Amino acid sequence: MKVLLIGSGGREHALAWKIAQSPLLDALYAAPGNPGIADHATLVELNVEDHAAVIAFAKEKAIDFVVIGPEAPLVAGLADDLRAAGIATFGPSKAAAQLEGSKGFTKDLCARYDIPTGAYQRFKSAEPAKDYVRAQGAPIVVKADGLAAGKGVTVAMTEAEALAAIDDCFDGAFGAAGAEVVVEAFLDGEEASFFCLSDGKTALALATAQDHKRVGDGDTGPNTGGMGAYSPAPVMTATMVERTMKEIIEPTISGMAKDGNPFSGVFFAGLMITAKGPELIEYNVRFGDPECQVLMMRLKSDLLPILYATATGTLDRVDAEWRDEAALTVVLASKGYPGAYDKNTPIAHIPEASEEAKVFHAGTALKDDRLVATGGRVLNVTALGKTVTEAQAHAYALADRVEWENGFCRRDIGWQAVAREKA
Ligand code: AMP
Ligand code: GLY
Repeated sequence: MKVLLIGSGGREHALAWKIAQSPLLDALYAAPGNPGIADHATLVELNVEDHAAVIAFAKEKAIDFVVIGPEAPLVAGLADDLRAAGIATFGPSKAAAQLEGSKGFTKDLCARYDIPTGAYQRFKSAEPAKDYVRAQGAPIVVKADGLAAGKGVTVAMTEAEALAAIDDCFDGAFGAAGAEVVVEAFLDGEEASFFCLSDGKTALALATAQDHKRVGDGDTGPNTGGMGAYSPAPVMTATMVERTMKEIIEPTISGMAKDGNPFSGVFFAGLMITAKGPELIEYNVRFGDPECQVLMMRLKSDLLPILYATATGTLDRVDAEWRDEAALTVVLASKGYPGAYDKNTPIAHIPEASEEAKVFHAGTALKDDRLVATGGRVLNVTALGKTVTEAQAHAYALADRVEWENGFCRRDIGWQAVAREKA
């Protein structure tokens, strides 16, 4: 099979690394890819926003299958255009990608099909939203409706904070994404991420993970795209997984199909495990970054036939096997991230991979044959261990061997699970 992978982050490096191990693979291309992905794929310079150019390239190289990593091309309808051109594609249609592209869309789906989530209302102007906040009281959550690079959510502990967040949205802090606002009930509990494939009819549960959104140790400081993750998430017991499938995923699949937007791709469900059980915080319609890196470390099965079955409506014929070990990834970021940071700082050394540990590239480039950091989140140091405690020790031992002066990382990734394992 000839495969084209779209994307350039740590998630795509992990996907490329796994796909490259498939005996079914004849050739792997990545657009635009990164220097880590270049170890497994031929990099191509394609403007991913130019769907006709992507299709032309796929035809020229007789690509059998396209795997789309990030959300932006999905929300822009790249999967629809590729499929219309007769090319099998992993990733939901533009209509189905609204599950991530519009928080209001997802909340309305939950309301229609009785999917547990916080009570909410949608608003197109500030005053009615503020009246609702005053009526409900704090804590309460204010969300820009559209894609805001993970920054459009305010968990307001006071009414004043919520009112200010509403003004921010309607004053254009998140551009078009904030033209509509969702105000929803604060959910109290422990968060977990759940990953599940669907071909529009059948579901295949993958695995669970926990993320670390804040930049600083002890979950302090501003939000980021994620500073580290581990899998599995201990709070997601077999019972919780079963309930999530039955109460959240299955009604989503049948509801989307009934509404004329069948979902094909990966559900990345952000869950709050409350006293009542799993409740949906949000859906993403792609693998998490860096959650994908820990999932790929733990996946024993060949990834390629699983993704292909998802794209071609034959998911009932495949299964996914997982290592019992835990996997943990530590993000090395440029000093200053998530604020301003220097670009093109040199990375002098990245330690070799082993079966049990690997450094994925997330924001790197080659400049005059030297590896440099180009992004905020730059490397994902990922390792396996019998326990999260052991995976954590392996990951930090490897991270400490990376030579990159301008890099930093959190030192406590996995702390919740480590504390549980000690108890
Ligand atoms: P989101 O971008 O929707 O994932 O929200 C970002 C973060 O805000 C989530 O990971 C949660 O930590 C928090 N959050 C979002 N919605 C709620 C809610 N209804 N109750 C409590 N926390 C929330
Ligand atoms: N790590 C969170 C995300 O990929 O959205």
